[in-house]
Amino acid sequence: IFMLSMSIVQSQTVYDESKVPNFKVPDALLTFKGKKINSVKKWEKVRRPELLHYFKNKVYGRIPKTLEIDSYTVLEEDSNALNGKAKRKQIALSFKHNNKSLSFTILLYLPKEEQNPPLFLGYNFYGNHTITNDEAVLISTAWTRNNESFGIKNNSLDEASRGKRTHRWAIEKILKAGYGLATIYYGEVDPDTNDFSDGIHSLLYNKNQTQPKPDEWGSIAAWSWGMSRALDYFEKDKDVNANKVIAFGHSRLGKTSLWAGATDQRFAGVISNNSGCGGAALSKRKFGETIEKINHSFPHWFCDNFKQFNNNEEALVVDQHQLLSLIAPRPLYVASAEEDQWADPKGEFLSAYYASPVWDLYNKQGIEHMQMPKVNEPIHSTVSYHIRSGKHDVTDYDWENYIKWADTFVK
Ligand code: GCU
Repeated sequence: IFMLSMSIVQSQTVYDESKVPNFKVPDALLTFKGKKINSVKKWEKVRRPELLHYFKNKVYGRIPKTLEIDSYTVLEEDSNALNGKAKRKQIALSFKHNNKSLSFTILLYLPKEEQNPPLFLGYNFYGNHTITNDEAVLISTAWTRNNESFGIKNNSLDEASRGKRTHRWAIEKILKAGYGLATIYYGEVDPDTNDFSDGIHSLLYNKNQTQPKPDEWGSIAAWSWGMSRALDYFEKDKDVNANKVIAFGHSRLGKTSLWAGATDQRFAGVISNNSGCGGAALSKRKFGETIEKINHSFPHWFCDNFKQFNNNEEALVVDQHQLLSLIAPRPLYVASAEEDQWADPKGEFLSAYYASPVWDLYNKQGIEHMQMPKVNEPIHSTVSYHIRSGKHDVTDYDWENYIKWADTFVK
């Protein structure tokens, strides 16, 4: 009985730097067998594949089968949207397998003056219609978490929530800078509940399978998969530049943008906004949210194998900086918020720092110094980092910096 109660009680959350355990940061440039990697060639042939394989099998889960877009439909389009500032398109991508189907809708805004602009692609938490007051944006019929302040009841969306999340999406700034913005409601790809009977997973089960195997994809991998399928669509859409698509995401969706960038090298750049545990933050620091805590609250986000590391970070032969390193040599932006200690800003910064030797291999500039920058003093290089004042959120300040970085390193 004692043992049982021990395992249900979770460890206390650490917010004190002096309680961070001593640990060895696994070297991004040393293979699991202890061989030093000193060339791009060896990195790409040996080390990158073994790291990717480990993250697939032990952390996010591998995708059981390839599934391509069955068909897509432009549901709506308007070349005079947002008071004539943008072109708007809404495109549904449909997938079919095992007599099941799924579709999700991309909301796309493009700057009017630009031909083939680069674009930011990122999921939203409560439906495409929440990111703007634009009345033409279609309302999703997918399951949604209730939210009293947004007027979301009965797990379904309606007009009440239109425009409730505009502050997180600096649409005007993005368009003005010459970028497009594409967003998708993440719940259309896989509802964010611990239930594997729905969402994209269910299309790819073998006969009699009802949930992913221990090394098969959780929800984060499913959402990342959706970002790649959106990119497949962009490759067919002459209005956008598919070679310049930046994967963006906040929080759980920042974990998602990182994994999308790691698994799909077509993404031209990656932004992790306050992604925290299982995203940019180092797991072995056990600061703020830990593997045990995240797997307890969100058992469906990672693959089942990841649970082996609950309160057992020592057994992990990788850490999250090696996830970041899989994005090299492409531009990466890791951002934290001062009051977001749950996501461990220092662990996010150190992760960008420890990943940087891989960018060095390519003669690209990573984070050179181990000293964390001051609040609101961004470091801009191919690997960029900032910690802004304020809480867990996406602000105009974040977007202004992402645009600056993208202007220099992606555009
Ligand atoms: C929770 C969770 C985090 C996650 C966040 C979010 O706080 O513990 O890991 O990043 O939700 O997605 O907003």
